[in-house]
Amino acid sequence: MDTDRATDAPQDSDRPRLNDYESFAAAYSAENENNLVNGYYARPAMVRLAGDVAGRRVLDAGCGSGPLTAALRERGAHVTGVDVSPAMLELARRRLGEDADLHLADLAGRLPFADGAFDVVVSSLVLHYLEDWGPTLAELRRVLGPGGRLVASVDHPFVAYTLQDPRPDYFASTSYTFDWSFDGRLHPMRFWRKPLHAMTEAFTAAGFRITALSEPQPEPAARELFPEEFATLSTSTCFLFFVVQVPEEDGD
Ligand SMILES: C[S@@+](CC[C@H](N)C(=O)[O-])C[C@H]1O[C@@H](n2cnc3c(N)ncnc32)[C@H](O)[C@@H]1O
Repeated sequence: MDTDRATDAPQDSDRPRLNDYESFAAAYSAENENNLVNGYYARPAMVRLAGDVAGRRVLDAGCGSGPLTAALRERGAHVTGVDVSPAMLELARRRLGEDADLHLADLAGRLPFADGAFDVVVSSLVLHYLEDWGPTLAELRRVLGPGGRLVASVDHPFVAYTLQDPRPDYFASTSYTFDWSFDGRLHPMRFWRKPLHAMTEAFTAAGFRITALSEPQPEPAARELFPEEFATLSTSTCFLFFVVQVPEEDGD
């Protein structure tokens, strides 16, 4: 073994960690606030698909710094947020106030809520961080009451499968990584892509009925604010949005 080279190699502690929201929480949150993709496309679409949430108990699963939580709260919902990143939750708390109902939890595991605790679950741009959607969707199904709805957005598979050369096997669920740039540093991110049929089957296997599959347009107001990016986004696939529902009655 060449010990000099081994010594020079970056130590584990020096290597940036994958999906390390702790290290770029504030920068991500600031960028997400009013940019085209989040502020004028993904978030308004989630709000629209969530429908009338006034008086509803809503779980924002993977709430980040809480922009969607805030938007739903403004529409009269009682929103609870969970996220795996303490830094993102801290930003959410600053935005939403000390009494906000926010929990540190990993969506890969059991959630700290009773069966049927929510009427609606929203999960914006989170599921694609998870290799296996099964346990997560089973938990989201558990915490929704009969007739409850889950609204979820993910990277569109048609985009996720065309990012690489050579093109990956469309029928295999695989991970891919690329760097996000924040504060002059590169942050390695890892996502999981699935073919469309694997996504729909994951929802139905968890006991949901698919009620809408949406490829929305950005908000019209963005045309003047971001003319060039708007032209691209309004003519490309970007994210895919699902609305799925728990049957009204068991065995329905
Ligand atoms: C792209 S951000 C989206 C944040 C927010 N939903 C929004 O749309 O503004 C993804 C969020 O998912 C969270 N996340 C990723 N994996 C998670 C997991 N396994 N459990 C809970 N949260 C997770 C991250 O910490 C991050 O806050």
